Parts: sequence; C-alpha cells; structure tokens
Amino acid sequence: MSNSYNVVQFSDFKDLAKEDERFAEVFESMLASFSNNGINKDVETFIKKKAEQFDNMNMAKTYLVMDKGLNEICGYYSIVSKSITIKQRDWGKLSKSVRKKLNPFGYKDTSSDQNIPAILLGQLGRNFNADNKISGNELLSLSFETIKSISSQIGGRYLYLEADDTQKLTNFYTNHGFSYLSFVDGSCYKTKNNQVMFIKKMND
Ligand SMILES: CC(C)(COP(=O)(O)OP(=O)(O)OC[C@H]1O[C@@H](n2cnc3c(N)ncnc32)[C@H](O)[C@@H]1OP(=O)(O)O)[C@@H](O)C(=O)NCCC(=O)NCCS
Repeated sequence: MSNSYNVVQFSDFKDLAKEDERFAEVFESMLASFSNNGINKDVETFIKKKAEQFDNMNMAKTYLVMDKGLNEICGYYSIVSKSITIKQRDWGKLSKSVRKKLNPFGYKDTSSDQNIPAILLGQLGRNFNADNKISGNELLSLSFETIKSISSQIGGRYLYLEADDTQKLTNFYTNHGFSYLSFVDGSCYKTKNNQVMFIKKMND
C-alpha cells in the first residue's frame, strides 16, 4: 500500500454521505473540483455523473485515490471483471502465439468467438486540480495493487483497457507492460468505438 495516498472505494464514501449531511456536501465538492483539464471528457464525466450508478448496478467499481488527509481526490480508477470478447473473424487474424497466450485451451479453434477471462480497467485519470499531484505512474501502480488482489481471488487471465490511439497513451501503457492487441499483418485490433486495446498478462 502506498505511503502517500489512501485508496477508498467510491461506495464507502457514498454510504458515509448518506449518514452524514456535512460529509455529503464535502464529497460533492470534492467531485465537483475533479478536472482533467479538458484532456479526456469521458474520464471527468464518469466520476462526476456515472460512477455512482455503475457502482450501484455492479457494472464497475470505482476507487478514489485520496491524499493522506482524505481532503481531496488525487485520481481514480474503475475496474470490472469482464471477459475480452473476440469475434471469430478477428480471432483468426491473430497469430497462433498470441492466440495461445490469450487462450491456451482454445487457441486452435478458429471457428468460434472467444471469451478470455479478464479484468477491464475501465477508467483511470488524474485530478489536475488537486494540490497533491499524483503522477500517472503512481496512479497506475495503485490500480495494479487493487487488480492483483482481486484477480488472485476470482481469476482473470488478462488486464485490459480500451484507449484512443495517441502517442502519449501508447507510451504510458507500454511502459507499464501493456501491449497492443494486434493482428499478424501488423494492424491493430479496433474496438467497436474505434479504440485500440491494450492488454497485459495478469502475473507478468
Ligand atoms: C493518462 C494520465 C493518467 C497519464 O499521467 P502522466 O503520465 O502523469 O502524464 P501527464 O498527465 O503529465 O500528461 C503528459 C502529457 O500527456 C498528455 N495527455 C494526457 N492524457 C492524454 C490523452 N488521453 N490523450 C492525449 N494526450 C494526453 C497531457 O496533455 C500532457 O501533455 P503536455 O506534456 O503537452 O502537457 C493522465 O494524463 C490523465 O489523467 N489523463 C486524462 C485521462 C486519460 O486520458 N486517461 C486515460 C484513459 S485510457
């Protein structure tokens, strides 16, 4: 566990806010001051408007990375257990070795869609407004700690995420052990939102 930050589940703060009106106001203003400096609207909108619903509906769990004094949200990440689904037409375009890594039991079968047990890192972002500025590296490392402890209990062969295909994000994720999911012809697998998929084997 980090010495500089406290990781708190969004739902724990929400529960506290239901019991304590003053804390509810404080939490509201913490969320309101979260900013991505306009870099990624989805990440900002998610924490402000969607995290609670996703949490309640068990669609994703959000973790707030707080400063030691629990005064501000320095960053956050959201995760959910969700398999990587690869359509049959795409599965056949992956090299045999990639297929084997993804699914050691089903890599020879190119006649059906594939589901690989995985954990999705759905959101991750720094709060650019925070006094205590966490780095992307620290934030990602904290998310790995949470993800490792969860996957050791429930399984999940890969950690993955979908992202815009930018140089910054490519450097950021590949520096932390992720690689593009890409086809044998060198092109990248694209999600239905036309994003790229970064994958990382869980115990690598
Ligand atoms: C991704 C992130 C955690 C990386 O943190 P970091 O490694 O400490 O890097 P910084 O925040 O200092 O950003 C470095 C540069 O990358 C740029 N950048 C950050 N996220 C970017 C994105 N999603 N797309 C394009 N450029 C991005 C920043 O604008 C900055 O540019 P500058 O050096 O010209 O000012 C952080 O930048 C962030 O929270 N970004 C917004 C949310 C986001 O995009 N999350 C990833 C979703 S897949």
